[in-house]
Amino acid sequence: MNIDLSGRIAFVSGSTRGIGRAIAEGLARAGCAVVINGRDAERVTATVGELERDIPGATFTGVAADVSTAEGASVLFERLPDVDVLINNLGIFGPQPVLEIEDDEWRRYFEVNVLSGIRLARHYLPGMTERGWGRVQFIASDSAVVTPVEMVHYGMTKTALLAVSRGYAKAVAGTGVTVNTVIAGPTHTEGVEEFVAELVGADVPWDEAQARFMAEHRPNSLVRRLIEPAEIANMVVYLSSEYASATTGGALRVDGGYIDSILP
Ligand SMILES: NC(=O)c1ccc[n+]([C@@H]2O[C@H](COP(=O)([O-])OP(=O)(O)OC[C@H]3O[C@@H](n4cnc5c(N)ncnc54)[C@H](OP(=O)(O)O)[C@@H]3O)[C@@H](O)[C@H]2O)c1
Repeated sequence: MNIDLSGRIAFVSGSTRGIGRAIAEGLARAGCAVVINGRDAERVTATVGELERDIPGATFTGVAADVSTAEGASVLFERLPDVDVLINNLGIFGPQPVLEIEDDEWRRYFEVNVLSGIRLARHYLPGMTERGWGRVQFIASDSAVVTPVEMVHYGMTKTALLAVSRGYAKAVAGTGVTVNTVIAGPTHTEGVEEFVAELVGADVPWDEAQARFMAEHRPNSLVRRLIEPAEIANMVVYLSSEYASATTGGALRVDGGYIDSILP
């Protein structure tokens, strides 16, 4: 399968590091022009420069904007009125006892993790349907399906994305535009490396730390290791391609078999 996205433009929210950056890289390697995003202008510029250096011939631009707010989204829409591929990757997470989460924190999680993607999809979908082609994806998590007791507010937002994605897919039925959610499992990002070090000790070599973390804290994983961000990106690139034209309204798992379920 030769995925060729040349001529397409993609926006990836929250792409200066982690899974978003790997998605940006994967799309660019398939020939797509990619717009990098984060809140900090220096980090956006640095990421664009690094990716340009790593992938000769690829086209990257950057938009620094906090797309969890209406103002930030307006800045983006002015700079980038249309896209062919929208990847709603931005998401925050962190542990908090559920009975201690106040209204404002519930709202913040909803606004950053859910409303940001709703707003961007609402803006970009009409152009995609007019042109008769488009791809929208939301990056959810195993926490959408297996509510983590230490992050109920986070799980709630990821469950909500499944409904939003399914609903938007119905709204654009028959137009050539697809809308899907990718359910990522525990992934090897900088933040997760710190989290693992906290749990098993900072002086333990990475391979051993990862193995202990998976055995003790994520025993349901069938791959028995953290997922690499590029493995999530592979699914996103496929879903962004012509080959995935019959896949819409779905939730596709790249969770290393973590969710104990036969159905996707
Ligand atoms: N890591 C995992 O194990 C895992 C597992 C399942 C699902 N996921 C999901 O995958 C997605 C990415 O996770 P990650 O771990 O790769 O995240 P991450 O490492 O924390 O990266 C977050 C990115 O988003 C940017 N960002 C944060 N707030 C922003 C805002 N308001 N507006 C624009 N950009 C913003 C950050 O850049 P700035 O700080 O410069 O703004 C950074 O580029 C999230 O939706 C997460 O829920 C992650």
